[in-house]
Amino acid sequence: METKIIKIDKNQINEEVIKEAGALLREGKLVAFPTETVYGLGADALQEEAAKRTYEAKGRPSDNPLIVHIADYDDLKKIAINIPPETDMLAAHFWPGPLTMIFQKSDIVPYGTTGGLDTVAVRMPVDPIAQALIREAGGFVSAPSANTSGRPSPTTAQHVEEDLNGKIDMILDGGTVDIGLESTILDMTVSPPMILRPGAITEEMFEKVIGPVNVDQTLLSENSTQAPKAPGMKYRHYAPKAKLMIVEGDLREEILAIRQLAYEADRKGHPVGIIATSETLPFYNHGIVKNIGTRENEKSIARNLYGVLREFDEENVDTIYSESFAVQGMGTAIMNRLEKAAGHLRISASEVVKLQKYRRITFVSGTDSARGPMCAELLRHCDLKQEYVIDSRGMVVLFPEPANQKAEAVMKSVQMTLEGHSSLQLDPEEIQEDTLILTIDQSEKEKILAECDASENVYTLNEFTGDNTEIPDPYGKPLTAYGECLEVLERIIKKLADKLNSLMEEGKWEEQS
Ligand code: TXA
Ligand code: MG
Repeated sequence: METKIIKIDKNQINEEVIKEAGALLREGKLVAFPTETVYGLGADALQEEAAKRTYEAKGRPSDNPLIVHIADYDDLKKIAINIPPETDMLAAHFWPGPLTMIFQKSDIVPYGTTGGLDTVAVRMPVDPIAQALIREAGGFVSAPSANTSGRPSPTTAQHVEEDLNGKIDMILDGGTVDIGLESTILDMTVSPPMILRPGAITEEMFEKVIGPVNVDQTLLSENSTQAPKAPGMKYRHYAPKAKLMIVEGDLREEILAIRQLAYEADRKGHPVGIIATSETLPFYNHGIVKNIGTRENEKSIARNLYGVLREFDEENVDTIYSESFAVQGMGTAIMNRLEKAAGHLRISASEVVKLQKYRRITFVSGTDSARGPMCAELLRHCDLKQEYVIDSRGMVVLFPEPANQKAEAVMKSVQMTLEGHSSLQLDPEEIQEDTLILTIDQSEKEKILAECDASENVYTLNEFTGDNTEIPDPYGKPLTAYGECLEVLERIIKKLADKLNSLMEEGKWEEQS
């Protein structure tokens, strides 16, 4: 089947196009169209046969009911019965808009549309293209999200094309949707009404209009033995190809943990994907990082979520780590979709981070011109399980100077360089809880201990590595003395790397699911 793709502008709707699309729907055919939430796969809701085609095109289990979209509030009475009185208030506030309400169905709604249920889900979208199409099609258009079952819902016409090209009759391309997550579903057949799927209309917003509502408890705990009340919520929707894991903790720990996980993965030659935000983007230097939006505006995150998941399907990554978001307001819907996409896999950020006793390693020598910078450069070339900031400082640096030329010459002989090094005086303020200070001589250690109270993490290099070989001071001696010094340092720094790596090993973090 050839799928006709037609661009349409919601501010200047081309009536001819709507007529053509409406006619297709009346014939029982399938037309994908934009709504404010996600793109829908439209069919005439009152034709059993059309519902069948919908399930086929999506590859969706037919016990998963469809939402019937209307354009005029009066039409609700034709497809629903026993409509409770609060409905008027809710409709006045939230329709047209991203709210779906469930009622008992009337006889004109075929069981094919409701997946065999006696209830019907109804939504009145606000998108003008959707409204025009629904009216043209006769008033009742069933529309699940226009994705292949199991793929993220489409937020652009291109997403629909990726999944359904050749399987449906037409796609109306109205650009990128506004909200990006599916409508909130509210079950009106129980009292008080119950939220079956979180969305842009939140629990707090309902409460302001009709008082407290309930929330389907199976949404809150992934281990629930009960099936969720909206049949579609039981499927592992929105599944990206890669394994997605949500890293949970406070934001600082989440960043540190994801950095570590991405570093480890790069080291093993399997780059990972990272879902970051505008605010956290600059902190990542490993992996394939995508910006999902700004933490200042959760709506931007909702709008980009599915698009980012789809983009990762095009990347060669087999794991994606995502930061997490506060479960409140729109965040409830964001985390609900993210957790479903992750199949509820999560990692505790603090479990990862607690293994990182040190994050910065500073070598301290007298003038910071030879042995200190040599140690730093040697360590940078070691294979470390954790990423460290590695630098060097001096105890008596009057002004910044490049590295000693003989030191540079011996480093060059082992394919390393001190080029660009500039000596710096140690500033006690720089010593943080996670800084490991390693001095070349005992005298420097004593001086630091006397000058600042960072006693815990200050060691001589010999002491920390348990290697008692004296580190010779080549200053003022010929090049061979620098060469001998390098040999000693190479051995000790190798031991240092082993020790740091074994610290990481202790109590490896575990994935939780
Ligand atoms: O925002 C949306 O609601 C989008 C756009 C296209 O309007 N549509 C959408 O449809 O998300 P779909 O089919 O992907 O999701 C419909 C959800 C499913 O989880 C389904 O189980 C639930 O609504 N549902 C439909 N009828 C129901 C009923 N009678 N009782 C309980 N849940 C129902
Ligand atoms: Mg869907």
